[in-house]
Amino acid sequence: MGLKVGVLGVGPVGEHIIRVLGERRFPVDGEIMIMATREREEVLNGQQVTVRKVSEDLLRKLDLVFFAGKEGARGASMEWADIAVKLGCTVIDNGSDLRMYPNVPLVIPEINMDAVTGDTRLICNPNCSVIQLAVTLYPLHKAARLRRVVVSTYQSVSGHSGAGIGELLRQTAQALANESVQINPEIFAKEIVFNCIPHIDRFERNGYTRGEMKIVNEMRKIFGEPNLLISATTVRVPVAVGHSESVNAEFAGPMSADKAFEILSDPELSPGVVCVDGIRNDKDALEIRRDPLERVYPTPCDLKKGEWKDAVLVGRIRDDTTAPNAINLWCVSDNLRKGAATNAVQIAEGMLKRGLL
Ligand SMILES: NC(=O)c1ccc[n+]([C@@H]2O[C@H](COP(=O)([O-])OP(=O)(O)OC[C@H]3O[C@@H](n4cnc5c(N)ncnc54)[C@H](OP(=O)(O)O)[C@@H]3O)[C@@H](O)[C@H]2O)c1
Repeated sequence: MGLKVGVLGVGPVGEHIIRVLGERRFPVDGEIMIMATREREEVLNGQQVTVRKVSEDLLRKLDLVFFAGKEGARGASMEWADIAVKLGCTVIDNGSDLRMYPNVPLVIPEINMDAVTGDTRLICNPNCSVIQLAVTLYPLHKAARLRRVVVSTYQSVSGHSGAGIGELLRQTAQALANESVQINPEIFAKEIVFNCIPHIDRFERNGYTRGEMKIVNEMRKIFGEPNLLISATTVRVPVAVGHSESVNAEFAGPMSADKAFEILSDPELSPGVVCVDGIRNDKDALEIRRDPLERVYPTPCDLKKGEWKDAVLVGRIRDDTTAPNAINLWCVSDNLRKGAATNAVQIAEGMLKRGLL
């Protein structure tokens, strides 16, 4: 017997949750209840579906609801998460509103599935940039204890919302037609076509953006390290799907690029990580400079490969020659899949496996 499952929100994240539930054969009893702010027919994942207006009557019928709605006071989580839990649902929320509540577990199954207990009815999915960073760094942290992290992100437009992809396509068409590019500042503050914007979410008083502070605060919560030294710069780039990150990590214990590669290439030690590092994957690569094999490092386009679609791809692992026990690396992951939908569905799978659902 399966569970009565609902998805609230039908932007790119909601659509991907429905797709991933099907791909992973999550045990659903009947049809997935698809909900948003208003009733209509819509095409999702190539299929016409009925989207229902979310209501208490619908939520009451469900065991498990994935929230993929907008954030903020009038967003889905603030309006409906509490109500859904009171009506008996388990909620897995993709938004950021509830992530830092002390009694709400913020979960990446490869790292802290134990944070979910028998009483947990509301679980948060971390921010998309945080998930790939944490999946990469946690195995290294276990081996040598992180001392300090500096990360710069290269975040795709789909990380904003469905409207983010539309904005990139519209601006690209204008630029290619030699028209002046019109921006919608509600979506991106400046032109995104042929540009990079070091601005994700609102600015905080300390000069960092909320996107940057989410990385700091959520990493500390997931790692259970409230004093972890971590500093972030988040940048929007004109990529449709797939976030990339340049990471400098310094460790208290012995760490080197060779050791990091060894740990990150071991699926037992580093679940969810795939090392795509030409020079290390192929020791001869340096000898054959013109061989395309040397160009083996991950990019967002590599996520189109079926076997990598849910992975965190790591490459360019190098010793930081300016500090002991410090490395640089590059990681890439699909912000809509492992950064959102897949992680959420894995949380539900983990709960099922532990008899918590
Ligand atoms: N995009 C990413 O890479 C990513 C990654 C991780 C987490 N997230 C988070 O996941 C959530 C969804 O992201 P998205 O990009 O798919 O968003 P989106 O394109 O903005 O879609 C939001 C959906 O939520 C619905 N919604 C908004 N307010 C609601 C309310 N009060 N009650 C019920 N439904 C409501 C909207 O309904 P209507 O269609 O009826 O307007 C819409 O279907 C956001 O919180 C986002 O921050 C996104």
